[in-house]
Amino acid sequence: MKRETIAIHGGWDGDPTTKAVAVPIYQTIAFEFDSAEHGAALFNLEVEGNIYTRIGNPTNAVLEKRVAALEGGLEALSVSSGMAAIEYSLINIAEAGNNIVSLPQLYGATYTLLAHILPKRGISSRFSASDDPAEVDKLIDENTRAVYCESVGNPAGNVADIEGLARVAHKHGVPLIVDNTIATPILLRPIECGADVVVHSMTKFMGGHGTTLGGMIVDSGKFPWRDYPERFYMLNRPEIAYHGVVYVEHYGDAAYVARCRTVCQRNTGATLSPFNGFLLLQGVETLALRVERHVENARQVAEFLRGHPVVEWVNYAGFPDNPLYPMAQRYLGSKRCSLLTFGVKGGFEAGKRCFNALRLFKRMVNMGDAKSLACHPASTTHRQLTPEEQLQVGVTPEMIRLSVGIEHIDDIIEDLAQALEQSKREASEAVAISVGGR
Ligand SMILES: Cc1ncc(COP(=O)(O)O)c(C=O)c1O
Repeated sequence: MKRETIAIHGGWDGDPTTKAVAVPIYQTIAFEFDSAEHGAALFNLEVEGNIYTRIGNPTNAVLEKRVAALEGGLEALSVSSGMAAIEYSLINIAEAGNNIVSLPQLYGATYTLLAHILPKRGISSRFSASDDPAEVDKLIDENTRAVYCESVGNPAGNVADIEGLARVAHKHGVPLIVDNTIATPILLRPIECGADVVVHSMTKFMGGHGTTLGGMIVDSGKFPWRDYPERFYMLNRPEIAYHGVVYVEHYGDAAYVARCRTVCQRNTGATLSPFNGFLLLQGVETLALRVERHVENARQVAEFLRGHPVVEWVNYAGFPDNPLYPMAQRYLGSKRCSLLTFGVKGGFEAGKRCFNALRLFKRMVNMGDAKSLACHPASTTHRQLTPEEQLQVGVTPEMIRLSVGIEHIDDIIEDLAQALEQSKREASEAVAISVGGR
Protein backbone atom coordinates (compact mmCIF):
# COMPACT_ATOMS: atom_id res chain seq x y z
CA MET A 1 0.00 0.00 0.00
CA LYS A 2 1.04 3.57 -0.58
CA ARG A 3 1.68 5.82 2.42
CA GLU A 4 -1.62 7.69 2.02
CA THR A 5 -3.46 4.36 2.29
CA ILE A 6 -1.32 2.95 5.12
CA ALA A 7 -2.04 6.11 7.12
CA ILE A 8 -5.75 5.24 7.01
CA HIS A 9 -5.81 1.44 7.07
CA GLY A 10 -2.43 0.27 8.41
CA GLY A 11 -2.56 -2.15 11.33
CA TRP A 12 -6.36 -2.48 11.46
CA ASP A 13 -8.81 -4.65 9.61
CA GLY A 14 -11.92 -3.94 11.65
CA ASP A 15 -13.15 -5.69 14.78
CA PRO A 16 -14.19 -9.27 13.94
CA THR A 17 -16.49 -9.50 16.99
CA THR A 18 -18.40 -6.23 16.93
CA LYS A 19 -17.68 -5.26 13.29
CA ALA A 20 -16.61 -1.82 14.50
CA VAL A 21 -14.76 0.00 11.74
CA ALA A 22 -13.01 2.64 13.85
CA VAL A 23 -10.27 1.40 16.18
CA PRO A 24 -11.84 0.96 19.63
CA ILE A 25 -10.30 2.57 22.70
CA TYR A 26 -9.32 -0.31 24.96
CA GLN A 27 -9.52 1.74 28.12
CA THR A 28 -8.36 -1.03 30.41
CA ILE A 29 -5.30 -1.50 32.54
CA ALA A 30 -5.09 -5.27 32.53
CA PHE A 31 -6.25 -8.25 30.45
CA GLU A 32 -7.72 -11.44 31.87
CA PHE A 33 -5.80 -14.71 31.75
CA ASP A 34 -7.70 -17.88 30.80
CA SER A 35 -5.82 -19.76 33.52
CA ALA A 36 -2.65 -19.69 35.56
CA GLU A 37 -0.96 -21.60 32.74
CA HIS A 38 -2.09 -19.01 30.17
CA GLY A 39 -0.78 -16.18 32.38
CA ALA A 40 2.53 -17.98 32.79
CA ALA A 41 2.80 -18.54 29.03
CA LEU A 42 2.17 -14.84 28.40
CA PHE A 43 4.82 -13.79 30.91
CA ASN A 44 7.22 -16.36 29.46
CA LEU A 45 6.63 -14.81 26.02
CA GLU A 46 5.52 -18.23 24.75
CA VAL A 47 2.18 -16.97 23.43
CA GLU A 48 1.15 -13.59 22.08
CA GLY A 49 -1.38 -11.53 23.96
CA ASN A 50 -1.96 -8.65 26.30
CA ILE A 51 -0.96 -8.53 29.95
CA TYR A 52 -0.99 -4.99 31.29
CA THR A 53 -1.30 -1.64 29.50
CA ARG A 54 2.06 -0.39 30.76
CA ILE A 55 3.58 -3.10 28.52
CA GLY A 56 1.12 -2.93 25.63
CA ASN A 57 -2.46 -2.11 24.69
CA PRO A 58 -4.51 -3.15 21.62
CA THR A 59 -5.42 0.45 20.65
CA ASN A 60 -1.79 1.50 20.83
CA ALA A 61 -0.78 -1.67 18.98
CA VAL A 62 -2.71 -0.47 15.92
CA LEU A 63 -0.92 2.86 16.04
CA GLU A 64 2.43 1.07 16.42
CA LYS A 65 1.78 -1.15 13.39
CA ARG A 66 0.59 1.81 11.35
CA VAL A 67 3.60 3.99 12.07
CA ALA A 68 6.02 1.06 11.61
CA ALA A 69 4.47 0.48 8.16
CA LEU A 70 4.58 4.19 7.29
CA GLU A 71 8.28 4.30 8.14
CA GLY A 72 9.05 1.01 6.40
CA GLY A 73 10.15 -0.47 9.75
CA LEU A 74 9.64 -3.89 11.27
CA GLU A 75 8.03 -3.03 14.61
CA ALA A 76 7.35 -0.03 16.78
CA LEU A 77 6.70 0.95 20.38
CA SER A 78 4.43 3.83 21.30
CA VAL A 79 5.29 5.87 24.39
CA SER A 80 3.91 8.86 26.24
CA SER A 81 5.92 11.63 24.52
CA GLY A 82 8.61 12.29 21.97
CA MET A 83 11.14 12.83 24.75
CA ALA A 84 10.32 9.43 26.26
CA ALA A 85 10.88 7.88 22.82
CA ILE A 86 14.28 9.55 22.50
CA GLU A 87 15.40 8.59 25.99
CA TYR A 88 14.28 4.96 25.64
CA SER A 89 15.87 4.65 22.21
CA LEU A 90 19.22 5.49 23.81
CA ILE A 91 19.10 3.85 27.24
CA ASN A 92 17.93 0.62 25.61
CA ILE A 93 21.49 0.11 24.33
CA ALA A 94 23.72 2.50 26.29
CA GLU A 95 24.84 2.48 29.92
CA ALA A 96 27.40 4.15 32.18
CA GLY A 97 30.76 4.33 30.46
CA ASN A 98 29.24 4.56 26.97
CA ASN A 99 28.81 7.60 24.74
CA ILE A 100 26.40 8.86 22.09
CA VAL A 101 27.70 10.78 19.08
CA SER A 102 25.26 13.39 17.81
CA LEU A 103 24.90 16.09 15.21
CA PRO A 104 25.16 19.46 16.99
CA GLN A 105 21.83 21.02 16.02
CA LEU A 106 18.98 19.49 17.98
CA TYR A 107 15.62 20.26 19.55
CA GLY A 108 16.30 22.01 22.89
CA ALA A 109 15.14 19.24 25.27
CA THR A 110 16.99 16.60 23.25
CA TYR A 111 20.14 18.67 23.51
CA THR A 112 19.62 19.01 27.28
CA LEU A 113 19.02 15.25 27.61
CA LEU A 114 22.26 14.49 25.78
CA ALA A 115 24.39 17.30 27.15
CA HIS A 116 23.26 17.43 30.78
CA ILE A 117 21.00 14.55 31.86
CA LEU A 118 22.48 11.37 30.39
CA PRO A 119 26.03 12.40 31.44
CA LYS A 120 24.84 12.38 35.08
CA ARG A 121 24.06 8.71 34.53
CA GLY A 122 27.49 8.09 33.05
CA ILE A 123 26.45 8.22 29.38
CA SER A 124 28.42 11.02 27.77
CA SER A 125 27.58 12.84 24.55
CA ARG A 126 29.86 14.02 21.81
CA PHE A 127 28.57 16.69 19.48
CA SER A 128 30.21 16.85 16.08
CA ALA A 129 31.71 20.12 14.89
CA SER A 130 29.37 20.13 11.88
CA ASP A 131 26.81 17.93 10.10
CA ASP A 132 29.53 16.41 7.95
CA PRO A 133 29.63 12.61 8.47
CA ALA A 134 33.44 12.84 8.43
CA GLU A 135 33.24 14.94 11.63
CA VAL A 136 30.96 12.35 13.20
CA ASP A 137 33.35 9.59 12.15
CA LYS A 138 36.15 11.21 14.16
CA LEU A 139 34.17 11.04 17.41
CA ILE A 140 33.10 7.38 17.36
CA ASP A 141 35.11 5.00 19.53
CA GLU A 142 34.68 1.55 21.07
CA ASN A 143 32.36 2.97 23.75
CA THR A 144 29.98 4.65 21.30
CA ARG A 145 26.57 3.01 21.28
CA ALA A 146 24.68 5.14 18.76
CA VAL A 147 24.91 7.99 16.30
CA TYR A 148 22.00 10.39 16.72
CA CYS A 149 20.47 13.08 14.50
CA GLU A 150 17.25 14.79 13.48
CA SER A 151 16.41 14.18 9.82
CA VAL A 152 15.32 17.82 9.69
CA GLY A 153 16.63 19.82 12.63
CA ASN A 154 14.42 21.88 14.92
CA PRO A 155 14.61 24.86 14.62
CA ALA A 156 17.54 25.26 12.20
CA GLY A 157 15.90 23.21 9.41
CA ASN A 158 19.22 21.51 8.60
CA VAL A 159 18.72 18.27 6.66
CA ALA A 160 20.97 15.44 7.84
CA ASP A 161 22.99 13.38 5.40
CA ILE A 162 21.39 10.17 6.63
CA GLU A 163 23.14 7.92 4.10
CA GLY A 164 26.54 9.35 5.01
CA LEU A 165 25.84 9.11 8.75
CA ALA A 166 24.58 5.52 8.41
CA ARG A 167 27.76 4.64 6.54
CA VAL A 168 30.08 5.93 9.26
CA ALA A 169 27.93 4.51 12.08
CA HIS A 170 27.86 1.07 10.46
CA LYS A 171 31.57 1.17 9.74
CA HIS A 172 32.06 1.32 13.52
CA GLY A 173 29.33 -1.21 14.26
CA VAL A 174 26.83 1.17 15.86
CA PRO A 175 23.25 2.03 14.88
CA LEU A 176 22.01 5.34 13.52
CA ILE A 177 18.99 6.72 15.40
CA VAL A 178 17.04 9.43 13.55
CA ASP A 179 14.35 11.76 14.91
CA ASN A 180 11.93 12.08 11.97
CA THR A 181 9.38 14.31 13.71
CA ILE A 182 9.56 17.29 11.37
CA ALA A 183 9.88 15.52 8.05
CA THR A 184 7.35 12.75 8.86
CA PRO A 185 7.39 9.57 6.74
CA ILE A 186 5.38 11.43 4.10
CA LEU A 187 8.41 13.55 3.17
CA LEU A 188 11.29 11.27 4.18
CA ARG A 189 11.76 7.68 5.30
CA PRO A 190 15.12 7.47 7.11
CA ILE A 191 15.13 3.65 7.17
CA GLU A 192 15.26 3.63 3.36
CA CYS A 193 18.40 5.77 3.66
CA GLY A 194 20.12 3.44 6.13
CA ALA A 195 18.80 4.51 9.56
CA ASP A 196 18.37 1.67 12.06
CA VAL A 197 15.91 3.27 14.46
CA VAL A 198 13.48 6.14 13.91
CA VAL A 199 11.97 8.12 16.76
CA HIS A 200 9.01 10.47 16.64
CA SER A 201 7.29 13.08 18.64
CA MET A 202 3.76 12.03 17.62
CA THR A 203 2.69 15.24 19.32
CA LYS A 204 3.52 17.25 16.19
CA PHE A 205 2.56 16.55 12.57
CA MET A 206 1.64 12.90 13.12
CA GLY A 207 -1.17 13.80 15.55
CA GLY A 208 -1.51 17.12 13.82
CA HIS A 209 -4.06 18.93 15.94
CA GLY A 210 -2.15 20.14 18.98
CA THR A 211 -4.17 18.01 21.38
CA THR A 212 -2.16 14.91 22.21
CA LEU A 213 1.33 14.10 23.48
CA GLY A 214 2.86 10.87 22.25
CA GLY A 215 6.06 9.30 21.01
CA MET A 216 7.11 6.37 18.85
CA ILE A 217 10.22 4.24 18.43
CA VAL A 218 10.40 2.39 15.11
CA ASP A 219 12.86 -0.45 14.71
CA SER A 220 14.04 -1.11 11.16
CA GLY A 221 14.89 -4.68 12.18
CA LYS A 222 18.07 -4.37 10.12
CA PHE A 223 20.84 -3.66 12.60
CA PRO A 224 22.95 -6.82 13.17
CA TRP A 225 22.92 -6.84 16.99
CA ARG A 226 24.15 -10.45 16.99
CA ASP A 227 27.40 -9.42 15.30
CA TYR A 228 28.36 -7.39 18.39
CA PRO A 229 27.68 -9.73 21.34
CA GLU A 230 29.82 -7.75 23.78
CA ARG A 231 28.94 -4.21 22.71
CA PHE A 232 25.21 -4.95 22.68
CA TYR A 233 25.31 -7.61 25.37
CA MET A 234 21.88 -6.56 26.66
CA LEU A 235 20.32 -7.96 23.50
CA ASN A 236 22.63 -10.95 23.27
CA ARG A 237 22.85 -12.28 26.82
CA PRO A 238 20.13 -13.46 29.24
CA GLU A 239 18.31 -10.33 30.46
CA ILE A 240 18.11 -10.25 34.22
CA ALA A 241 15.36 -7.59 34.04
CA TYR A 242 13.12 -10.01 32.10
CA HIS A 243 13.77 -13.40 33.65
CA GLY A 244 16.64 -14.37 31.44
CA VAL A 245 15.24 -13.89 27.93
CA VAL A 246 17.90 -13.52 25.23
CA TYR A 247 16.32 -10.89 22.99
CA VAL A 248 18.07 -11.69 19.72
CA GLU A 249 17.16 -15.34 20.11
CA HIS A 250 13.58 -14.85 21.19
CA TYR A 251 12.67 -11.91 18.98
CA GLY A 252 15.15 -12.19 16.12
CA ASP A 253 15.19 -9.00 14.07
CA ALA A 254 12.73 -7.31 16.43
CA ALA A 255 15.04 -7.69 19.46
CA TYR A 256 15.69 -3.97 19.95
CA VAL A 257 12.08 -2.81 20.15
CA ALA A 258 11.08 -5.86 22.20
CA ARG A 259 13.65 -4.98 24.87
CA CYS A 260 12.57 -1.36 24.77
CA ARG A 261 9.04 -2.46 25.58
CA THR A 262 9.71 -5.15 28.16
CA VAL A 263 12.64 -3.56 29.97
CA CYS A 264 12.55 0.24 29.47
CA GLN A 265 8.80 0.80 29.28
CA ARG A 266 7.70 -2.00 31.57
CA ASN A 267 9.98 -0.85 34.36
CA THR A 268 9.96 2.92 33.99
CA GLY A 269 6.42 3.37 32.67
CA ALA A 270 6.29 6.19 30.09
CA THR A 271 3.29 4.53 28.46
CA LEU A 272 0.93 6.12 25.93
CA SER A 273 -2.62 6.22 27.24
CA PRO A 274 -5.01 4.28 24.94
CA PHE A 275 -7.19 7.38 24.64
CA ASN A 276 -4.19 9.32 23.33
CA GLY A 277 -3.40 6.39 21.06
CA PHE A 278 -6.91 6.72 19.62
CA LEU A 279 -6.57 10.48 19.11
CA LEU A 280 -3.22 10.03 17.39
CA LEU A 281 -4.77 7.44 15.08
CA GLN A 282 -7.35 10.04 13.99
CA GLY A 283 -4.54 12.47 13.25
CA VAL A 284 -2.40 10.00 11.33
CA GLU A 285 -5.32 9.23 8.97
CA THR A 286 -5.03 12.70 7.41
CA LEU A 287 -1.24 13.04 7.66
CA ALA A 288 -0.52 12.90 3.93
CA LEU A 289 -3.15 15.49 3.03
CA ARG A 290 -2.14 17.83 5.83
CA VAL A 291 1.57 17.61 5.06
CA GLU A 292 0.88 18.47 1.41
CA ARG A 293 -0.97 21.62 2.42
CA HIS A 294 1.57 22.54 5.14
CA VAL A 295 4.37 22.26 2.58
CA GLU A 296 2.65 24.40 -0.07
CA ASN A 297 1.60 27.07 2.44
CA ALA A 298 5.15 27.24 3.85
CA ARG A 299 6.57 27.71 0.36
CA GLN A 300 4.30 30.70 -0.21
CA VAL A 301 5.05 32.15 3.23
CA ALA A 302 8.80 31.87 2.59
CA GLU A 303 8.43 33.68 -0.75
CA PHE A 304 6.35 36.40 0.85
CA LEU A 305 8.78 36.96 3.74
CA ARG A 306 11.78 37.05 1.45
CA GLY A 307 10.21 39.81 -0.60
CA HIS A 308 9.25 41.93 2.41
CA PRO A 309 11.38 45.03 3.07
CA VAL A 310 11.26 44.65 6.88
CA VAL A 311 12.57 41.09 6.86
CA GLU A 312 16.32 40.72 7.24
CA TRP A 313 16.68 37.03 6.45
CA VAL A 314 14.60 33.91 5.82
CA ASN A 315 15.92 30.42 6.43
CA TYR A 316 13.97 28.17 4.08
CA ALA A 317 15.58 25.15 2.48
CA GLY A 318 13.54 25.65 -0.68
CA PHE A 319 15.58 28.67 -1.83
CA PRO A 320 18.36 27.53 -4.20
CA ASP A 321 20.77 30.03 -2.61
CA ASN A 322 20.17 28.56 0.88
CA PRO A 323 23.10 26.41 2.10
CA LEU A 324 20.55 23.77 3.13
CA TYR A 325 19.18 23.47 -0.40
CA PRO A 326 21.40 20.70 -1.82
CA MET A 327 20.85 18.35 1.12
CA ALA A 328 17.13 19.15 1.21
CA GLN A 329 16.88 18.50 -2.51
CA ARG A 330 18.61 15.15 -2.07
CA TYR A 331 16.47 13.92 0.81
CA LEU A 332 13.15 15.73 0.39
CA GLY A 333 12.99 16.06 -3.40
CA SER A 334 10.94 19.01 -4.54
CA LYS A 335 9.13 19.37 -1.19
CA ARG A 336 10.22 21.20 1.93
CA CYS A 337 9.16 21.07 5.55
CA SER A 338 6.72 23.64 6.82
CA LEU A 339 8.96 24.84 9.63
CA LEU A 340 10.93 27.94 8.75
CA THR A 341 12.72 30.70 10.56
CA PHE A 342 13.21 34.38 9.82
CA GLY A 343 14.65 37.52 11.37
CA VAL A 344 13.11 41.00 11.25
CA LYS A 345 15.39 43.98 10.62
CA GLY A 346 16.20 45.64 13.93
CA GLY A 347 17.23 42.52 15.84
CA PHE A 348 15.67 41.14 18.99
CA GLU A 349 13.31 44.06 19.73
CA ALA A 350 11.97 44.22 16.18
CA GLY A 351 11.46 40.47 16.14
CA LYS A 352 9.61 40.65 19.45
CA ARG A 353 7.36 43.46 18.17
CA CYS A 354 6.43 41.43 15.08
CA PHE A 355 5.88 38.31 17.19
CA ASN A 356 3.60 40.21 19.59
CA ALA A 357 1.56 41.69 16.72
CA LEU A 358 0.56 38.31 15.23
CA ARG A 359 -3.18 37.61 15.36
CA LEU A 360 -3.92 34.41 13.43
CA PHE A 361 -0.61 32.76 14.30
CA LYS A 362 -0.70 31.42 17.82
CA ARG A 363 2.30 32.35 19.97
CA MET A 364 3.36 29.05 21.47
CA VAL A 365 6.12 26.48 21.58
CA ASN A 366 4.41 23.68 19.68
CA MET A 367 4.63 22.89 15.97
CA GLY A 368 3.00 20.63 13.41
CA ASP A 369 -0.51 21.72 14.39
CA ALA A 370 -3.18 22.36 11.74
CA LYS A 371 -3.07 25.92 13.12
CA SER A 372 -0.26 28.30 12.20
CA LEU A 373 2.08 28.76 15.15
CA ALA A 374 4.92 31.12 15.91
CA CYS A 375 7.65 30.73 18.47
CA HIS A 376 10.58 32.75 19.71
CA PRO A 377 13.09 29.97 20.55
CA ALA A 378 15.58 32.20 22.39
CA SER A 379 12.99 33.13 25.02
CA THR A 380 11.14 29.79 25.19
CA THR A 381 12.20 26.33 23.90
CA HIS A 382 15.90 27.10 24.00
CA ARG A 383 15.82 29.49 26.95
CA GLN A 384 17.62 27.10 29.33
CA LEU A 385 20.60 26.93 26.99
CA THR A 386 23.51 29.35 27.33
CA PRO A 387 23.93 31.84 24.42
CA GLU A 388 26.81 29.68 23.16
CA GLU A 389 24.69 26.54 23.34
CA GLN A 390 21.86 28.37 21.57
CA LEU A 391 24.18 29.21 18.71
CA GLN A 392 25.40 25.62 18.60
CA VAL A 393 21.88 24.31 18.11
CA GLY A 394 21.15 27.03 15.53
CA VAL A 395 19.21 29.61 17.55
CA THR A 396 19.88 33.35 17.22
CA PRO A 397 18.31 36.04 19.49
CA GLU A 398 16.07 37.58 16.84
CA MET A 399 14.94 34.30 15.27
CA ILE A 400 11.21 33.69 14.91
CA ARG A 401 10.21 30.14 14.04
CA LEU A 402 7.00 29.55 12.11
CA SER A 403 5.13 26.30 11.88
CA VAL A 404 2.94 27.12 8.92
CA GLY A 405 -0.55 25.66 9.32
CA ILE A 406 -3.18 24.53 6.85
CA GLU A 407 -5.47 27.57 6.94
CA HIS A 408 -6.11 29.45 3.68
CA ILE A 409 -2.82 30.92 2.51
CA ASP A 410 -4.35 34.40 1.99
CA ASP A 411 -5.24 34.61 5.69
CA ILE A 412 -1.82 33.40 6.76
CA ILE A 413 -0.01 35.97 4.64
CA GLU A 414 -2.38 38.76 5.61
CA ASP A 415 -1.54 38.11 9.28
CA LEU A 416 2.19 38.16 8.68
CA ALA A 417 1.88 41.33 6.58
CA GLN A 418 -0.05 43.20 9.27
CA ALA A 419 2.36 42.04 12.00
CA LEU A 420 5.39 43.22 10.00
CA GLU A 421 3.71 46.57 9.28
CA GLN A 422 2.77 46.97 12.93
CA SER A 423 6.34 46.25 14.07
CA LYS A 424 7.63 48.82 11.55
CA ARG A 425 5.15 51.42 12.82
CA GLU A 426 6.10 50.76 16.44
CA ALA A 427 9.79 51.03 15.54
CA SER A 428 9.27 54.49 13.94
CA GLU A 429 7.19 55.60 16.94
CA ALA A 430 9.97 54.45 19.29
CA VAL A 431 12.53 56.43 17.27
CA ALA A 432 10.24 59.50 17.26
CA ILE A 433 9.80 59.30 21.04
CA SER A 434 13.53 58.93 21.66
CA VAL A 435 14.36 61.82 19.29
CA GLY A 436 11.62 63.98 20.83
CA GLY A 437 12.84 63.21 24.31
CA ARG A 438 16.39 64.34 23.61
C1 LIG B 1 12.27 17.34 16.77
C2 LIG B 1 11.61 17.08 18.08
N1 LIG B 1 11.80 15.90 18.69
C3 LIG B 1 11.23 15.63 19.88
C4 LIG B 1 10.43 16.53 20.52
C5 LIG B 1 9.83 16.20 21.85
O1 LIG B 1 8.50 15.80 21.69
P1 LIG B 1 7.42 15.78 22.85
O2 LIG B 1 7.01 17.18 23.12
O3 LIG B 1 6.33 14.92 22.29
O4 LIG B 1 8.07 15.14 24.04
C6 LIG B 1 10.19 17.76 19.91
C7 LIG B 1 9.32 18.76 20.58
O5 LIG B 1 9.16 19.87 20.12
C8 LIG B 1 10.80 18.05 18.67
O6 LIG B 1 10.62 19.21 18.06
